[in-house]
Amino acid sequence: MKALDGIKVLDFTHVQSGPTCTQMLGWFGADVLKVERPGMGDATRQQLVDVPGADSLYFTMLNHNKRSIELNSKDEVGKKVLTRLIEECDVLVENFAPGALDRMGFSWERIQEINPRIILASIKGFGPGKYQDCKVYENVAQCVGGSASTTGFRDGLPLVTAAQVGDSGTGLHLCLGIVTALYQRQTTNRGQRVSAAMQDSVLNLVRVKLRDQQRLQKGPLVEYSQHGEGIPFGDATPRGGNDSGGGQPGRILKCLGWEQDPNAYTYFIIQAAIWDKVCDVIGEPNWKTADGFAKPADRLDKLNLIFERIEQWTMTKTKFEVMDMCNPHDIPVGPILSMKEIAEDDGLYASGTLVNVPHPERGEYLSVGCPIKLSDSPVEVTRSPLLGEHTTEILEDVLGYSGEELAQILASGAVGAAK
Ligand SMILES: CC(C)(COP(=O)(O)OP(=O)(O)OC[C@H]1O[C@@H](n2cnc3c(N)ncnc32)[C@H](O)[C@@H]1OP(=O)(O)O)[C@@H](O)C(=O)NCCC(=O)NCCS
Repeated sequence: MKALDGIKVLDFTHVQSGPTCTQMLGWFGADVLKVERPGMGDATRQQLVDVPGADSLYFTMLNHNKRSIELNSKDEVGKKVLTRLIEECDVLVENFAPGALDRMGFSWERIQEINPRIILASIKGFGPGKYQDCKVYENVAQCVGGSASTTGFRDGLPLVTAAQVGDSGTGLHLCLGIVTALYQRQTTNRGQRVSAAMQDSVLNLVRVKLRDQQRLQKGPLVEYSQHGEGIPFGDATPRGGNDSGGGQPGRILKCLGWEQDPNAYTYFIIQAAIWDKVCDVIGEPNWKTADGFAKPADRLDKLNLIFERIEQWTMTKTKFEVMDMCNPHDIPVGPILSMKEIAEDDGLYASGTLVNVPHPERGEYLSVGCPIKLSDSPVEVTRSPLLGEHTTEILEDVLGYSGEELAQILASGAVGAAK
């Protein structure tokens, strides 16, 4: 038994943001039917190809636990099949450009007419307003959501983060909206519209920086390094460098081997509560009581000096030794793990967070499994579908077509070439 057993999802998503959401629904047990353009499919199948002739990792890693049906939604036969899919499904998820679904002839009003219980879940770049018609990609979302202006170093450019907070972050927000709407439907017996804008989702994830924007009007942000360095603030939340987002000072420090290894670093936080232990570990026991060091507020203008001293210590240890030595004292540290190190982490395989997935075209590939664990709804990661792999199966088993009618649909061209 899976949490979403019995829920059918009409997955009209592409690229990254939407597929992240429907993949999660599939992991929780929904039957996800991915509708793709005949002969082409999701554009990511052919993007960043590493094995010629096989679906790319870009596609396979975002589309586990789904079935694929080819369907031209602008063709008359295709529209009839799509209408049947809307009748049968509990959720329709899409992340087309604004207005695309209406242009296909499937407005929210029309969808409700077909199936009043369906939940229509959409991702767009922006919510209602002057930019509502814009197409939006990951880095644009990071910029307009406030992430880029607050990431990076004070004297450098705004930076985008490699974590896909705009795409995958919005997919997760949408997923939560969908399961909430499914829950409400149990009472109302009605579907509803669920919308997640990429700008809004990024902003939700950087809300602490909007906190700082308001604090700035009351005075300097004392926990930012620039305060201790005597550099005045402007009128907007500055880039925070590697300062921690909370009130406790933190930095990234070199560890043994940093000259050769670009990831031989650790994050190091000097929480007020464990200051004495930090002093003991790095060999500065006098700092526990010394004037200018004993109290957190007195340390703010000495953070560069303090972290330089801590770094003298971390540079004599590997990042893992720093972790092993600090954790028993509750000193919060974290090694900077490379993707190579993550891919070799046995613990992540044991928990199902990393999975090796067999694939008929490309062989076994490594993927990230479901990061959310439900004790009563175990996740079994299955490979992404080949384009149109389940077209006939879905027409027969989900939509009940058979005989002459099925043959006509298959011959119409609206559902791709026969497989
Ligand atoms: C991601 C995005 C920028 C891509 O833009 P795009 O490649 O031009 O793709 P679109 O969504 O505009 O779709 C292109 C066309 O394909 C059509 N199409 C898609 N699937 C189809 C199908 N199965 N059959 C027939 N036509 C189909 C659409 O109807 C659209 O036609 P239209 O332009 O006549 O309306 C855009 O979809 C978007 O802004 N999405 C919302 C935000 C988002 O999710 N961004 C992040 C993506 S990771």
